[in-house]
Amino acid sequence: MSFIKHATITLLILFVIACLAYWTIALSGRMDVSADGTHWPITDRVLKTVRVNSVARHAGDISPDLPDLADTDLLHEAVVGFEDMCAACHTPPGGSPTAMAQGLNPPATDLAEAARERSPAELFWVTKHGIRMTGMPAWGPTHADEELTPVVALITRFPDFAEDDYENLLTAAREAGVEHHHHHHDDEHGHEHDQDHGHEHHHDDDEEHEHHHDHDHDHAHDEEEDNDEHDHHDH
Ligand code: HEC
Repeated sequence: MSFIKHATITLLILFVIACLAYWTIALSGRMDVSADGTHWPITDRVLKTVRVNSVARHAGDISPDLPDLADTDLLHEAVVGFEDMCAACHTPPGGSPTAMAQGLNPPATDLAEAARERSPAELFWVTKHGIRMTGMPAWGPTHADEELTPVVALITRFPDFAEDDYENLLTAAREAGVEHHHHHHDDEHGHEHDQDHGHEHHHDDDEEHEHHHDHDHDHAHDEEEDNDEHDHHDH
């Protein structure tokens, strides 16, 4: 009897502590969700560990068919694809960071470094599925695998890039008239996206109670909209 009594009291105390913690962290508004603020170091570490292990596990059983980019047209397509979809956040080798890249939190990974540390399957998985609650969008909903694999293949070469290799490649691709284009079904998705999220976005300020949520997702939406606009110009 006395054991049950003790256990009950302990559970009650734990429950009260959990409620207080929830109040302090979630309800009080004390948590700083600003992108120009910082996490506690421990939070950063935990988030990184979760991301690295999650990606490793989920990418574990895929083997993306990466082209070797020996074909010049494909290489050009890859570099233009990277420039249009990724470079605004992931500064390419030898490039300087855009204003957006400088404001991202967490910052977009240096992909030359990522290519050294992660398997091609992991790079592909992240490119296709994105990383929730960061600026990293999923490109799978709007792009076929065959459009993403050349870009990922390009990234696997970044560690060997000299200072001006990327810029030279991009210039050559543009001179050859290569543009970033999509298969037909992708455009439909692009439009749906605009409608779905563009709306929500403009009402942000009215919806005080949803601020936490909106903040978490704003980066991704902004970026996807930017890219969608980009695509429209291309047509
Ligand atoms: C709006 C900004 C943005 C764009 C555009 C973007 N990314 Fe990212 N990406 C990020 C951020 C931020 C992270 C880091 C997320 C984290 O730290 O958890 C990331 C992470 C990644 C990673 C994981 C690296 C690692 O070390 O595990 C890969 C791979 C990646 N991005 C590839 C791409 C590719 C390829 C494109 C273009 C097709 C792209 N990204 C476009 C913001 C972006």
